[in-house]
Amino acid sequence: MNTQTIPPLAPDAPVVLEMTNISKSFGAVTALVDVSIRLRQGEVLALVGDNGAGKSTLIKILSGFHQPDTGTIVSQGKEVRFASPRDARAQGIETVYQDLALIGDLSVFHNMFLGREYRKRVLGLNLLDNGKMREQAQLYLDTLGISIPSVNSTVDLLSGGQRQCIAVARSIYSSPKILVLDEPLAALGVRESAHVLGLIQNLRQQRWVSVILIVHNYNQIFEVCDRINFLHSGEIALDASTADTSEEELIRIVKSGLGRKGDRCRRGASAAGLRMSRRQGTARTIPAGSTPSTGPRMEHSL
Ligand SMILES: Nc1ncnc2c1ncn2[C@@H]1O[C@H](COP(=O)(O)OP(=O)(O)OP(=O)(O)O)[C@@H](O)[C@H]1O
Ligand SMILES: [Mg+2]
Repeated sequence: MNTQTIPPLAPDAPVVLEMTNISKSFGAVTALVDVSIRLRQGEVLALVGDNGAGKSTLIKILSGFHQPDTGTIVSQGKEVRFASPRDARAQGIETVYQDLALIGDLSVFHNMFLGREYRKRVLGLNLLDNGKMREQAQLYLDTLGISIPSVNSTVDLLSGGQRQCIAVARSIYSSPKILVLDEPLAALGVRESAHVLGLIQNLRQQRWVSVILIVHNYNQIFEVCDRINFLHSGEIALDASTADTSEEELIRIVKSGLGRKGDRCRRGASAAGLRMSRRQGTARTIPAGSTPSTGPRMEHSL
């Protein structure tokens, strides 16, 4: 885990993503109601909330897996509509889903290069360049400090934590503009969690890739995130900078129902130095600091 102090996000870091007034229902189930989030370049945003709050639905809309019933998505300053995950990927939005979407009976190196395989021509035939993919996958995982028995192993044979690391590594490899991680730490032990958090922290230090991180453990949020958006019953109920609050304060606020709608909640939020999102419209943000970021563009090395 990278323990270096991370400079705060520059207040003038450009906004790379705005999802505004997103609503989504599945038949009679209302998953999201007028949800608005904003993400700046290099920012690590934690999306928290109880089970069923709508977190995965929101990021599945962002990644083109679901289409919203209402609302707009503006990516890199342009309104976009994602009809499929391929459309979102073309905009530099990479998602690691809760269920990982790895192919269990394929090798680690095939999974790493799924959809972007190296190929070679042999006797006029267009073949997979397994040797190159094997070598590149090993090199890349070594660079990230991810240790697995062999890149030739099928993913089915890896532990849950190793699979998680492969899924995250695969997403980072494609140099995304926005990386979305849906509960990347859920199945991990202490050491493996620290490793994935270290990968995120390294991205954060570079301040190039923006990250949306769905996570339940508040302690981990304060380690690697710049902001927190709390989703409650399909609505963003709280938007706070991690620099302006503490883990204890967040737990107290969420437990006391402060992150919920209503006057009591708005008064409390103000007293706690946090701000509530408006019922409709873009969530208000709290600057996370004023030191400009000077991190270089991240390539494939961490
Ligand atoms: N494809 C679907 N069809 C029907 N209902 C769905 C579908 N996907 C999600 N839902 C419902 O939408 C609501 C929000 O679900 P979602 O998966 O977004 O929650 P979540 O915040 O990610 O929860 P968790 O922390 O358990 O992963 C839930 O009531 C869920 O049952
Ligand atoms: Mg979920």
